[in-house]
This record gives sequence, structure tokens and C-alpha cells, in this order.
Amino acid sequence: MKKIVCIALSLAFCACQTRTKKTGLIADNAMVVSARSEASEIGISILKKGGNAFDAMVATELALAVSYPYAGNIGGGGFMVYRMNNGDIGALDYREKAPLAAHRDMYLDSLGNVIPNKSTLGATAVGVPGTIAGVFEAHRKFGTLPIEDILTPVINLANKGVVVTEKQYKRLNKHRPNFFKANTDTILLAKHWQIGDTIQYKALANTLTRIKKHGRDEFYKGETAQKLVDFLQKMGGYITLEDLEKYQAKWRTPVSISYDDLTVVSMAPPSSGGICLGQILKSIAPYNISQYGHNSIKSIQLITEAERRAYADRSFYLGDPDFVTVPTSKLLNDTYIEERMKNFSFDKATKSSEVGHGNIEIVESDETTHYSIVDSFGNAVSVTTTINGGYGSKLYTSELGFFLNNEMDDFSSKPGVPNMFGLVGAKANEIMPEKRMLSSMTPTIIEKNGKLWMVVGTPGGSTIITSVLQTILNVHEYNMSMQEAVNQPRFHHQWLPDVIRMEPDGFDANLKKQLTEKGYHIDESNAPVLGKVDAILVLPNGKLEGGADHRGDDTAKGF
Ligand code: GLY
Repeated sequence: MKKIVCIALSLAFCACQTRTKKTGLIADNAMVVSARSEASEIGISILKKGGNAFDAMVATELALAVSYPYAGNIGGGGFMVYRMNNGDIGALDYREKAPLAAHRDMYLDSLGNVIPNKSTLGATAVGVPGTIAGVFEAHRKFGTLPIEDILTPVINLANKGVVVTEKQYKRLNKHRPNFFKANTDTILLAKHWQIGDTIQYKALANTLTRIKKHGRDEFYKGETAQKLVDFLQKMGGYITLEDLEKYQAKWRTPVSISYDDLTVVSMAPPSSGGICLGQILKSIAPYNISQYGHNSIKSIQLITEAERRAYADRSFYLGDPDFVTVPTSKLLNDTYIEERMKNFSFDKATKSSEVGHGNIEIVESDETTHYSIVDSFGNAVSVTTTINGGYGSKLYTSELGFFLNNEMDDFSSKPGVPNMFGLVGAKANEIMPEKRMLSSMTPTIIEKNGKLWMVVGTPGGSTIITSVLQTILNVHEYNMSMQEAVNQPRFHHQWLPDVIRMEPDGFDANLKKQLTEKGYHIDESNAPVLGKVDAILVLPNGKLEGGADHRGDDTAKGF
């Protein structure tokens, strides 16, 4: 909570400041910020035609499936948080599900050890995809343009092709060996594409054309469903036609918390994003973090300790709310949070080995992509979508033209054993047929004094929550522009492993030394970049500022 002295100091600071803020793209009416300019362009073209944010969501999501196969998808799933221009909020869950044949120990050998790669590479790692169900459900409830008008530019893009960027070239080179491990044919993206080449996605264009013609059921019951199941079964996967037929996207009530004059609205379980973000914000709220200075030792300590405690709770309490009781309001209770932070001291680091999950009474029992949209009517959507790892399970159906997710790895295969993001899980997130795996995706919309203020989110697996947090604080506490907030170096702590991950070269050597002296372990080897935040800020004059992350090919488009 800001103290009066802090407000006075900030005012004085602002008054004598001559610095001009470096801003991102400014637009008068509407904006789309996503991981590829082609997707942002198609999204904005839908808004220019008079479509609303939900029409643009469908277009942007599917354009990312074409232009950003690293994480954009129709073989994965995602979450959308929305805020209508009248203030109504809501959330759509189109997370993947475990197939009916799944069981708790499916990734363990006879000795109870996790079988390497089985939940990460190839057909055994694939959860039932939700993306097509999600975009059609968003469109059914809120869309205004005919679905044909939305899909046509996406199909045209797939036929015309997308140019390989330098960053994409590097990613393809890195992952090529695994494309060969997961597939029996030389898939489209395994070829030695060069920077500037144009890749045409003809098979995906054909699949999308069938979906345009027959609708959502094409993917879950039609020719595409049959071809997908035949392929997955041939490759040793578990998904059946019954799994596809049973898949439904679900509307959820988002998590909403107050922080100063902000109302932070974010994704509810089966994502941990909203609860974790809320716990961290509430833990730091009693401190004058703006006074400590941006990325100062005290602010890093405070945020780290709040993150440590929130992630410990995440591991124990969170899972699919259709299967386990998630004690959301208790985890976000002020007294509970106060209690959790009681043993925090600026003198030295708390050890993660000494932080368990908090005790609350329960009555019963990195690679992803984000886009932000504001339309000219004032509606906002915040969407994070994923196939989990980069290029998902690396399994690619050449006939249908897309990668399949490896989202099954987001379950805890064995309590206490970390997943590919190093996250340690417990019973709440154990595998069960038809259950949704716990996520960290944190699509978020923030109101300031009751009005739309920010739309924000990022990829990054377990680091998503903390990147979203820092972006919000950079604008709210440190008075940065949206683009400046996105550009700042980021750090991350997730309880276990007990290290602060830092973007290399982003932090001063003396600061790192001081943190080490206080007992923090710093790891700069594991995080070339933390997140790729794509965000929109509503400025005091009502214009929109985009924050598109330079860590990727991310681009803001607006009018
Ligand atoms: N697969 C990353 C997440 O859902 O958090």
C-alpha cells in the first residue's frame, strides 16, 4: 500500500523529471500485439472491418497457428480473459485434457521412476487439443462477423506463406534434431530453411478450409478428427475419437484482486496464474516498493520472497477445479498472506527448504505465446495459448499441417519430481482421465479506478507469472511507459529450485554480489530471455500504447 510519504516523493520525482518516456506504438482506437506482425496485422484488419475483440481473437489465434508454429497452434490449448466495455469480466478455458486412457502412473516405469521423454516428446505426450473449441466458443458467445470472413485471411496467409525471420531460423536449427526423433517423415519445418525464405503451409490451409466450411465439429468429429486420431494411434499415442468428441471449452470466473487503485483480473484454475499473481501482489502490497527503486536489492528480495511462498502453495494446492477443491479465497486471504510473509526479513534469504505450503483448512478433501487486443468499442481480450514446449511434442501431422502439444508434461508425473520447467507438483495435479493439467498461463486485464488500464501476458512456462508481475509493477510503481516496462530485464524465483533466475547482463554485478551475500543463489545460465510480454496500456488521454517484446519478433499494430 502506498504511504502518503511515498506519494509525495513520487510527485516530487515526477515534477522534476525531464526524461521523455520511450513509448511503443500509439493508436487512437484499437490495437493488437502478438508474437508475429502477420498475426497482429490480420487481427487488426478484422477490427478495421468492424469486428470486435472476440472476432479479432479468433483471427489472431489462428494466424499465430500459421505464422508462429513454435507456439501458435491448433494442436494445443489456451486461456482467454476478457473485459467488456461495460465492465463485465469473464474467462474461457480451452486447456488441453488428459485422454480417457490416461492414468496416474502412465509416465512411470515398473520401478516407479519417470520414463525420460515420454511426457515431452512424441505422441505419448499429447493432451486432447482445445484451441478450435476455444475460438469457436468465444465466437459463438461474443463474435459479430461471420466465421468465414475471419478465417479467409488466415487461410490466405497459410497459402501465401510466411517469411522466416532470424529468430525463427535459430529456433528451427535448435529443435531440428528432435523433429527427426519425434516423426517418421521429414516434416515441413525440418527442412533447412534460411532467413528470408517463405514457408507455405498448404496442409494447414486445407485443414482450416475444412474447418471454415464445417465449423468446430470438423476438428472434433469430422474428417480432420478421424485423420488426427489415425495419425496419433499410428504414432503410439492415446487419443481416441471419443476423446475428441467429448472435448468442451469451459467458461470460468476469473480471479480478481485489488492492489492500490488497480483491480487485477487474471486466469483462474486450471491455471495457477491468477492465484499466484494475486498472492505475490498481496504479499508485496504492504511495502513501499516504489521507494526501494526498480530492480534494487530490496525490491528483488521482496519480490523473490513473495514468489517463493506463492509457488510453494501453487505446487501443493492447485489443480483442475473440476477434479480437486482449490481453496482460492483462502489462498488470497489477507491474514493468510500476512502470516506467510511473517518470517521474511531483508537481512537474509529464506531457504526454500524451510518454506512448505501454508497450512489452510480445506473443507473437502516455456513455450507458449500471448496476445493482447483492445477494440474500438473498448472491449479487451488477453489470451495466452500454447503447445507447451517449443514446437510442442515436436510431433507434426504432415497431412493436417500442425504440431501437437506436449501438455501432458504439465501434470505432476510423480509427486516431488520436477517437470520440464523444474516445477514440482503434488497430488492436486496428478494425472486422471479427462483432467486438465495445471498451467502457469496468466492472461491478465487490469482496471485502474474502475476503467480499463492494461492488457498483459507472456509465454515462458513457470516464469509467466513473475514476468507479468514485473511488467505491471514497472508501470504502476516505477512510472514507465508500456514499452519501457516490457523492455526491462527480468528475474524469477519459483520456490524450487531455490535460485533467482536472471536475464544475463540485465543486472549489475554489485547487486548480484550483495544478493549472494544475503544467501540468494543466482542463476544466469538458464534464462537467455524470461518471457516475451505483449501488452497494451490505456493512456490518460484514452489512446492506446503497445508494448511488444523485442526478445521475440513481437509486433503491435493499431489504428
Ligand atoms: N505449458 C505452459 C503452461 O501452461 O503454463
